[in-house]
Amino acid sequence: MAKRKVGVWLVGAWGGVATTVVVGLAALRKGLSDTTGLVTSLPPFAPLDLVQWDEIVIGGHEIRETTYSAEAQVLIEKSHVFNEKTLAGISSQLARFDRNIRPGTLYNVGAKIESLAGPLALKTRNETASHVVARLAKDITEFKASHKLDRVIVMNVSSTEPPPPDEVRTWNWSDVQKSLSGKSHSSLPASTLYAIAAMQSGSHFVNFTPSIGSDLPGLDEYARKQQVLHVGRDGKTGETLMKAVLAPMFAARNLKVMSWVGHNIFGNLDGKVLDDPANKANKVKSKDHLLTEILGYKPQTLVSIEYVESMGDWKTAWDHIHFQGFLGTPMVLQFTWQGCDSLLAAPLVIDLVRLTEREARRGTSGVMSHLGSFFKSPMGTDEPAFAYQFQQLMQWVERTAKEEGEE
Ligand SMILES: NC(=O)c1ccc[n+]([C@@H]2O[C@H](COP(=O)([O-])OP(=O)(O)OC[C@H]3O[C@@H](n4cnc5c(N)ncnc54)[C@H](O)[C@@H]3O)[C@@H](O)[C@H]2O)c1
Repeated sequence: MAKRKVGVWLVGAWGGVATTVVVGLAALRKGLSDTTGLVTSLPPFAPLDLVQWDEIVIGGHEIRETTYSAEAQVLIEKSHVFNEKTLAGISSQLARFDRNIRPGTLYNVGAKIESLAGPLALKTRNETASHVVARLAKDITEFKASHKLDRVIVMNVSSTEPPPPDEVRTWNWSDVQKSLSGKSHSSLPASTLYAIAAMQSGSHFVNFTPSIGSDLPGLDEYARKQQVLHVGRDGKTGETLMKAVLAPMFAARNLKVMSWVGHNIFGNLDGKVLDDPANKANKVKSKDHLLTEILGYKPQTLVSIEYVESMGDWKTAWDHIHFQGFLGTPMVLQFTWQGCDSLLAAPLVIDLVRLTEREARRGTSGVMSHLGSFFKSPMGTDEPAFAYQFQQLMQWVERTAKEEGEE
């Protein structure tokens, strides 16, 4: 079979999740890692002819100036993940990918994210929104042409930005265009400018962050017009995955959840950005809404996210669930989740690349609603419970495998 060539354009290209994706892909390619953690390596996905590790080329946008090897070294030293031997085996591959990273945009990212930026990104600060889109789209188009790629998937794994004004969430495509071409400063956040640029260049867009990205009616209109796919928001990797699994159990047993308190502590760069109340607002909302959706009533909830530097990439979530059983008897479930954030997220990002690439070959466009099990705030589906979301994915697998057999 002729080899495919697929571009993965990472927004936030040298961050913790992105670096782990790149290290993971390079390690898989060299046979230095097995596929534990990858949903798409489960047996039912085998007939789908998904993209292979050596068919993927990495590029991306960043606002800091560093390298994959340097960022991987930080993960090794601060968080004690992977090891020097793995890194040594893949360093030349990482250096090749470093060359494909271009300066991102600071448009409407807020003071906290701007404080991370290096000189190249700071130089772009005076661009208008339409200039930003044109420059970002040009970078992606050049990447596709210079590496002779069949298609490109733009994956947003950049820092969580502060939410834009509420009205933006309702904008249709003509509102978006008006805002882009107007004389005054646009309210569109960077994540949406990245999504527009992706679609303008004919690429698909996946938003692994809580930022708005393509989650407004106008962007879905544009995706269909450009015949590209999109989906998001906010990867479901740890505490919220537990909520999406456990809350349906309380509902099914008619146990009344009175309160659900979740305290999260972690110490990576994401945690540092989320320490700013403006950026944190987006994340807390994304972690909190699904209980009401699953239970059908709103228990008292509290989600706290605290930056504790010594924890590095390791996150501890402690959840206290106070619920009522028969004859009004109060009971408690407590759990502690201790996961390594980037190592939980990276395989899901690789899965989303493979599934988006496969769906692109089916020739559809718009929101990929069958990917809800990957997200805290899934687009295109009202189904918040994990088991049903996973069922939707398996139905898609079955349909697609059948088509594969018919080809
Ligand atoms: N388990 C997880 O790690 C997990 C789960 C769900 C969602 N997420 C989300 O994924 C994102 C990435 O997480 P992370 O741990 O890698 O964070 P990180 O802080 O390590 O990486 C983010 C990267 O984005 C870069 N960046 C910031 N603004 C940018 C912009 N406008 N353009 C280009 N680059 C920009 C930063 O310089 C940084 O390198 C965050 O939004 C996080 O909330 C992570």
